[in-house]
Amino acid sequence: MKATAVAPANIAFTKYWGKVDDELRLPANPSFSMNLDNCLTTTTVEFDKKYKEDSFEMIGEKVQEKEERRALKHIDHMRQKVHIPLRAKIVTKNSFPKSAGIASSASGFAALAVAASNAASLHLSEKELSVFARVGSGSACRSIPDGFVEWKEGKTSQESYAHSLFPPDYWDLRDILVIVRSKNKKTPTSEGMELGRETSIFYTPRIQAVRQLHETLKTAFVKKDFKTVGEIIEKDCIYMHCVMMSTIPHLFYWTPETLAVIQNVIEWRDEAIESYYTIDAGPNVHVICEAKTEEKLISKLKKLDFVEQIIINKPAKGAHLITNHLF
Ligand code: PMV
Repeated sequence: MKATAVAPANIAFTKYWGKVDDELRLPANPSFSMNLDNCLTTTTVEFDKKYKEDSFEMIGEKVQEKEERRALKHIDHMRQKVHIPLRAKIVTKNSFPKSAGIASSASGFAALAVAASNAASLHLSEKELSVFARVGSGSACRSIPDGFVEWKEGKTSQESYAHSLFPPDYWDLRDILVIVRSKNKKTPTSEGMELGRETSIFYTPRIQAVRQLHETLKTAFVKKDFKTVGEIIEKDCIYMHCVMMSTIPHLFYWTPETLAVIQNVIEWRDEAIESYYTIDAGPNVHVICEAKTEEKLISKLKKLDFVEQIIINKPAKGAHLITNHLF
């Protein structure tokens, strides 16, 4: 009763920032993302009678109490489904340092969903795995299918899952992740979303706008119209951060370096280096470009002396089992 899974983190082009059901994590709008091949979580889960209690370990990192509680709650959820009386040992490892400030919840809960369900001999469909991962962390449902993924909001838990729109090799895009500050964010995403819904005057207008952007984005993807795709990526990034900044208390995830990267990306477009920025709930910037632009862009980014680290990501397949266990 042991299984190991690998799952990618993902970057959203239209984003999830708001829920209609907090417990089930049903989103207020659909979202679209790309899986990242260089930001991976590997997780091994074993159920066995030799374990007296559940345990959760992260190789090379200190586990926070909150993180452990959330992971073990997810395992409990699984145990209720299959009625296994056994305790579990969970060991997990990220390919990217936690100090890089990349949210590991998407890759983490996707890997946990695949490893735990297989260790329990529960052979779930991709859709069921996506639903299960979503309950752990909303964006994790998008790390289950391959490549470029859509998460439709859905009215019930069973209807709210992600599916692949295009395989990883459909379009040779890059997500150049520019780390400008490696400290962890202060306000967790769930709390930020709830506060946004309660207090930001931009919350509802953004939800309405993003539905339209999402549809236009899908059409632009079919045509491989990079300019339109890029403009939509930036629009929803700014809309989401307007909601965050106008939340009470204000959520400023950016630092001066975040804005400096944004301004450079815009200026470089005048030099025919076409790329577009997007930012999640933290200060680091994801710069999206086509493969042909990668080299020029990296050489520009490397000249910015405040950049701590650059991680280059290609589109990746979704969560899957592997045979090498972590213990
Ligand atoms: O799934 P969570 O709770 O980590 O929320 C993710 C929220 C954003 O990363 C800011 C946006 C998104 O759609 O990924």
